[in-house]
Amino acid sequence: MHDDVANESRFQERIDSGEKIEPRDWMPERFRHQLIRMISQHAHSEIVGMLPEGNWITRAPSLRRKMALLAKVQDEAGHGLYLYSAAETLGVSREDLIDQLLDGSAKYSSIFNYPTLTWADVGVIGWLVDGAAIVNQTMLAKSSYGPYARANLRICKEENFHKKQGFEIVATLAAGTTEQRSMVQDAVDRWWWPSLMMFGPHDNDSPNTAELMRWGVKRRSNDDLRQHFVNITIPQAKAVGITIPDPELRYNEESGDWEFGAIDWDEFYRVIKGNGPCNAERMKARRSAHDDGRWVREAAAAYASRDTVAAEE
Ligand code: 3HC
Repeated sequence: MHDDVANESRFQERIDSGEKIEPRDWMPERFRHQLIRMISQHAHSEIVGMLPEGNWITRAPSLRRKMALLAKVQDEAGHGLYLYSAAETLGVSREDLIDQLLDGSAKYSSIFNYPTLTWADVGVIGWLVDGAAIVNQTMLAKSSYGPYARANLRICKEENFHKKQGFEIVATLAAGTTEQRSMVQDAVDRWWWPSLMMFGPHDNDSPNTAELMRWGVKRRSNDDLRQHFVNITIPQAKAVGITIPDPELRYNEESGDWEFGAIDWDEFYRVIKGNGPCNAERMKARRSAHDDGRWVREAAAAYASRDTVAAEE
């Protein structure tokens, strides 16, 4: 018991001095549990996040738009793989993590449970969803757990392209015909509030934030990141003549913050409990992709064991 107390205080000293915790270092079981939860859900989010946009690859309005969207969706798959690899350094298997996604016991980001109804949604996702993800992941690139910080560093390099290609679509439509302008405004009206929900509940309602910040896993709180996202996004919306669907939005000269209205937390908890507009569709797609890919996994495992069998003969 005494050793654990000593180990915990040594661990906290390392965190407080800004050291990175690496897989082979001593860590509290709770720290390991929290990281597995957070990193695996992040990885699940990347994989499920491919679905809403993948829906538009065959319907992109030009070859250039199709190529950019293809590259982005492929990037998201890569982000998922980096993050599953980071989670595996904590002693969990990728198969178990994916089973938890498929049986519904693990979460993925609420934002991917909304439909992509028009091409403008693809632009708005790049601008708002990836924009919010960049704010979050830039912070996580400084996380105290080495493999997670390094995974987020790589992810952020690609996210900036995702946001830029999205904002270019939004700016093009906003400067287009009346139909195009109303299409992109409609998409912003539908995606704005769910994008704010990506940052999680208010700090006072977050059971995990205080502990994650004490351990340096999160360097900024949910509300702090959300406010930063709003502050940088409003001027972008104004630059292209887009209205943010929040009548209570107002600039506070003193604080420099764009103050915004109340988030519908009933909707948030409804969605994360599995009752959002597209939860069932997303899980069905993931489960059938997993079933369809069984033969590939079996063939790869057989091939890998072929080498061991040959070595034992
Ligand atoms: N969607 C789904 N669940 C959410 C959520 C959201 N937007 N926000 C919070 N939750 C869940 C948490 O997982 C937690 O449930 P759990 O304890 O059962 O896991 C509960 O709500 C309470 O929330 P907390 O704020 O206490 O939880 P965290 O401290 O974990 O903070 C988080 C939530 C901010 C999402 C944090 O987990 C995080 O930063 N995760 C890593 C980043 C991430 O997952 N981003 C998702 C988007 S990825 C993406 O956008 C890809 C891009 O390329 C498009």
